[in-house]
Order: sequence, then C-alpha cells, then structure tokens
Amino acid sequence: MSFTDLFRFYQKTDENHKKDLNAVFKPEGIAVVGASSKPGKIGYQILKNIIDCGYQGNIYPVNPNDAEVLGKKAYKTVEEIPEKVDVAVISIPAPLVIQTLEGCARKGIKAVAVITSGFAEVGNTDAEVQIKKIADKNNIALLGPNMFGYVYTPSKLNASFGPSDIRPGKIAFISQSGALAISLMGWTAMEKIGLASLVNLGNKSDIDEKDLIEYFNHDENVDAILIYMEGIKEGRKFLETEIKKPVVILKVGSSKRGAKAAASHTGSLSGSDKIYEGVFKQLGLLRASTFTQAFDWARAFSLPLPKGDETVIITNGGGIGVATTDECEAVGLSLLDDPIWLEEKFRKTMPDFGSTKNPVDITGQGGVVGYREAVKIALHEDKIKSVIVLYCETAVTDPMDIAKAMNEEYQAVHRNKPVVVAMVGGERTQAALHYLNDHHIPAFTEVSEAVSALKALYKWKEIANRKSEVVKIDPAPQEAIDMIEKIKSVGRTVLLEHEARKVLELCGVPTPKWGFARNIEEAVVKAKDMYPLAMKIASPEIIHKSDVGGVAVNIQNEEQLRTQYDKMMNKVSAAMPDANILGVNLIQMMKGIECIVGLSNDPQFGPVVMFGLGGVFVEALKDVSFRIVPFGKMEAGRLINDIKTAKILDGFRGIQADKASIVQTIYSIQKLAPLVKEIDINPLITNKDGSFAVDARIIL
Ligand code: ACO
Repeated sequence: MSFTDLFRFYQKTDENHKKDLNAVFKPEGIAVVGASSKPGKIGYQILKNIIDCGYQGNIYPVNPNDAEVLGKKAYKTVEEIPEKVDVAVISIPAPLVIQTLEGCARKGIKAVAVITSGFAEVGNTDAEVQIKKIADKNNIALLGPNMFGYVYTPSKLNASFGPSDIRPGKIAFISQSGALAISLMGWTAMEKIGLASLVNLGNKSDIDEKDLIEYFNHDENVDAILIYMEGIKEGRKFLETEIKKPVVILKVGSSKRGAKAAASHTGSLSGSDKIYEGVFKQLGLLRASTFTQAFDWARAFSLPLPKGDETVIITNGGGIGVATTDECEAVGLSLLDDPIWLEEKFRKTMPDFGSTKNPVDITGQGGVVGYREAVKIALHEDKIKSVIVLYCETAVTDPMDIAKAMNEEYQAVHRNKPVVVAMVGGERTQAALHYLNDHHIPAFTEVSEAVSALKALYKWKEIANRKSEVVKIDPAPQEAIDMIEKIKSVGRTVLLEHEARKVLELCGVPTPKWGFARNIEEAVVKAKDMYPLAMKIASPEIIHKSDVGGVAVNIQNEEQLRTQYDKMMNKVSAAMPDANILGVNLIQMMKGIECIVGLSNDPQFGPVVMFGLGGVFVEALKDVSFRIVPFGKMEAGRLINDIKTAKILDGFRGIQADKASIVQTIYSIQKLAPLVKEIDINPLITNKDGSFAVDARIIL
C-alpha cells in the first residue's frame, strides 16, 4: 500500500469545503421549523431568542397548525415561504426531519441546524446517515443533529434555546456538548467574556470542528477559537485543519471511564488521550485542562503578541508578588532581571521602602498615582515586553480608580504590548475586574490565572512563528519491500530479529554493529570487530528468548563466544527440542540512554509514532508522546522534547544523547507505515556517537 492509498483509506472525502457557512452565520433569511406559540417548548424559545436578540434579517416560523407564531406570519412548510431563506433551524420530532430536509433542499436552503435528538446518539444511525446524504447531495451545511443551536453575535443571531443575554466579543466557542455550552453562555456573560459565536456541534454528522475553525480563520469578528471536545469522528480530516488563529481545546474523556462516558454522550469515538495530545501538538492547538483555564487563555488572545521575553510584575503587595514570581518560574515565563535599570526607571513611582526589583512593589501605600506611573513606564519602555499588574485591595485605594487609570494608559499607547491583571479583594475589586475585562484587559482573581493566560500568549506566538515544513516521506527501499513481501508470502506476520533490524537499517534507522550467524564458525568471523557483544537465539518458535537460555550478554572475546554458544545451544534444545533453530544474532553491546520508538495504527488517525525513554520510564511513568504519520524532522524534534523526562536527553550521569539520530530514527520508520502493522524499537540506545536500534520487533 502506498502512502496515498493508506491515507485515502483513513480519510473520508472532505465534501464540506464546498458548503456555505455564511448561510449559517450571516443569513438573509432564517426559518424556524417547529416554531411554536407555546412557552416552554423548544420551538418557541428558539424563535423568541432570534426575535429578542435583534436579528435583522427575515424570520419565518414554520408550523402546519398555526397561521402566526410570536407575531410573525407562519408557513406550513419551508417551500411555501416566498422569499429567500439561507438557513433553517429544525425543531420537530426525529421521524419528521428527513422529509423536512428534503423540503429545505427543494427550497434551495443552504444550511440547516437540526436541534432534534434521536439519531446516532441513541443508535438511530440509519436516519443520521440519511440526513447527511440529503445534505451532501444538495450541498447543504448540516449542523447537528442533537444540538441546542448556535449564536453569532455580529449578526445579532441567537438561534438557540439557551439564554438570551450573550455578551458580544471575539471568541468563537465550539462545543460538542449542548448542556455545557448553554450553561457557559450564562457564565461568560457574568464574567464579562464576550463571544463572537457559540456553536453546539451535537452529533456533528456533517459540519465539525475543522469546518468551523477554517471558517473562523477568515472571519475578522473572531480573534480566538475555543473548542470543547469529547472525541473526533474523522481523525484524518481533523489533522488537516488549517490553524491560522489561536485555538484552545478542552478535550475531556482522558480517563478510561471518562472515555466511555463520552462515547455514549454524543456517539464519539474516544481514542487514546495520549494520541489526541499528540494530534493537538502536531496541529498547534493549545490544550487547556479546565473550562476556566480555556476561557482565561481565549481571553488573552485579544491582546497583542509579545515582542520578546522580558516580563515585569507591578504590585502593591509583596506576598502576591512572590506568588506570581513562583508561577512565572513554574510555567517558564522569564522576568526582566536588570536591577540597576529597574531602579533607575521605577524608583520614582514608590515610597523609599518600595522595591524596584522585579516584582516592582509600589507598596500598600501605592495608590492610583503610583499605579498609573508604574504602568505607564512599563508600557513605554521597549525593554519590557509584557506586563503583569497585581493589586491587593486596601482601604486607602479604590480598585476601580486603579483599573480606570490602567485602562487609560493602555489605550494611550494603543495596547502596544500584552498586559494581564490579577486583583484580589472583595466586591469593589470584583467590579474593577469586570471593568477591565469589559475593556479587553484580561483580569483575574487568581495570580495563577493571569500568569497562565500570559503564558498561553507566548505559546501561541511560538506556534504562529513555527517554520512551515514540507513533509515528504520517501517510500521504503525496494529491498525492504521485497523482504517484507517474501515473509508475508510464507504466511509469517512477525519478522525475526535480524530481519527486523535489516529492514530498519535499509530504511535509514541507525543500528549497532550486528550480524546473523547460522553456526559458530560464522559467528566467530562476524563477531571480530563487535566485542563486547550480546548473542541471542534466532528461531521463529522462540519468542521469550531469555526464558529458554537464549540470551547471553557481555561476551568479550572469541573464547567466551564459543563457550556461550555451546551453552546456549544445549539449554535451548533441552527447553524447546522441537524449535527450528536458525542460528544466532550477534549485537554489539551499547552504553547510553535507553529510549523506545514505536509505530502503530490508531483506528481514527491511522499510523502513529510513539517516542519515550525506555526501561523504567516507559513502564512506570508511561512517559511517552505521539505524533501522527506523516510528519517532518522539525516535528520529530518537537516530539522528543515533548516527554516529561526530555531533560535527560540533554545529558544524564555523564551520558550524552544524540538527538539528531533519534530524529533520524523517528523520521525513517515512517517509511514503513504503509507496509507494517506495528514496530517496536526497544531499546533505541542513544549516546554521544549516535542512536542505535538495539532490539526491534516488526509485525505485519
Ligand atoms: N413542520 C413544522 N412544524 C411541525 C411539523 C412540520 N413538519 N410537524 C409538527 N410541527 C410542529 C408541531 O405542531 C409543534 O408545534 P406546536 O407546539 O404549535 O404544536 C412543533 O412543531 C413541535 O413539534 P412537537 O411534536 O410538539 O415536538 P416537541 O416540541 O415536543 O419536540 C423536539 C421536538 C424538541 C425537536 C424533540 O423531538 C427533541 O428532539 N428534543 C430534544 C432536543 C435536544 O435536547 N437537543 C439537544 C440539545 S443539546 C443539550 O444537551 C441541551
């Protein structure tokens, strides 16, 4: 199978690029099918929200039993509507949806949002397949089914049965779960977080995250995208998402029970969380771990990107300053460290007992004038690239005055660098926080939130500045393909050790010196420049070699080789008299850091490569990371730096790793992705001279 065939197998054709999402978000006319005059019904609430939130286009209730709904003329079917309709929101029982969708197609409607439940999520996949087919055939963008609707504030469009008080802003929130999105609508309004859009994907039988991200990529009303995800339906399609704006992702279902719960919620397939993690990193998505963190980060993207690393903290409290310094160190934000310069610039902003070291502590006596001055300096000095302002409420200061002064100074410099704020206090402080958030200065009650939001901005900057990499994995060399075909043709699915090493070597994976010998005389010749070496029995029947005495290590010379060879043959033939002994593998003993590199096939994403440290690290810590094939050498470099213990690869107990040859290994085994089911290189030993696939297993 070639790469193209392989990925065609995993990738369903992406029809959606032809679909018109402007019809969803910027419609000229909207129909509500199932619009009801009865308060409490979903069809009532959706129509009411559309009217109440100020949508300016034409609104058409559709209900066969009513001539008028909520003061608007109603139609018996969508086809009866005389004017153009771009989108229909459908809220009628499941058995009626198919015929309604056909009516929408005849009317030339370009988008539908199917609120109705009772499709794939309850096992009614036939009906879901059918509505998707109708949508594809007629080029209709289909949202849902099983969703609570959507909101797009630039069009003042609230086509949902959620709350009506939504704060306009520049975050697009895409949620697989409806209930969660509804509840967060109220929360965002309370927290003064503005939304450009909120889309509940429901079963996402058609329009999914990729379609929406790519739509919002080109929407000037959106600064950042936030996704709540339980699982991905089309892994390969998702992998091809073009990321142009910061995307914060909250993916749940990482525990075993959580994954099961997610599967039964919206019918998603929930694969290994580690693989999702790899996918997100490969794509350049920012993964948050809680809702509040996700929104904290999303809010930060209203700020300009920092032009460098040096952060300055301004505070009126020493303790909160120390706590913030700790947080900065923990996440890797670097604080400007130039005491003389800081003293020169900031001394005038504080009493004598204040501190100009970073954190710049203007003290509890520091009022609005002190804050204004200090913030002004931090904003005007180019040497400072980002600012964290902290405030502890005191009776001698009014937090609102400080918030206003800060905002004035920030607007005066046209928001020239990122500023985040943490304020601790009571009701007055809460009001000041709201004021700042209202003015697009992310302000939090916890210092950790402010630091984490600023860090997200730095992370995004790094992602946005990534050099693009043309990924082209060469096919495996013909000799390797022939070897594999030959092994397959005799009905074997597991390569012998020497075959596996040979195949890897042919593909460019570095190996230690090694040889396969059919008898002791061959072994003696091959072993000549290999000592010290390990010897292992080669037999298709023997899988656990050491259990039958089939492994001898640390052989230093010919004499030991001969003795060990005899011992091994005696032990193995006593333990497994019927085994077909082909000979022995001789492998040069290597010293270095043990790593593990694997290739396997994921049901959603296809071939994936895993990297981790070997030995205890892989067993005890499960410290491994993944990427999806194909990816280039730069991504391979990021993969090896991804694991928690990556620091060990910078040198450990005097042993250096050779990262370049690990990258080479990770890159090279991808050539085998179309040919094999699984590869396990364990260990790959790395030292200053290179990395070496010491043992390998390949399953076809
Ligand atoms: N075209 C237009 N209107 C029609 C049609 C038709 N072909 N057939 C019936 N109607 C009218 C009905 O007469 C009724 O109007 P009325 O209130 O004036 O009598 C209206 O459409 C609704 O039909 P009902 O049969 O009353 O259905 P009901 O409103 O009870 O339920 C609904 C429909 C809401 C779509 C339901 O089937 C459903 O799926 N509910 C779950 C929705 C949901 O939870 N979605 C996921 C949200 S995400 C989350 O987790 C919150």
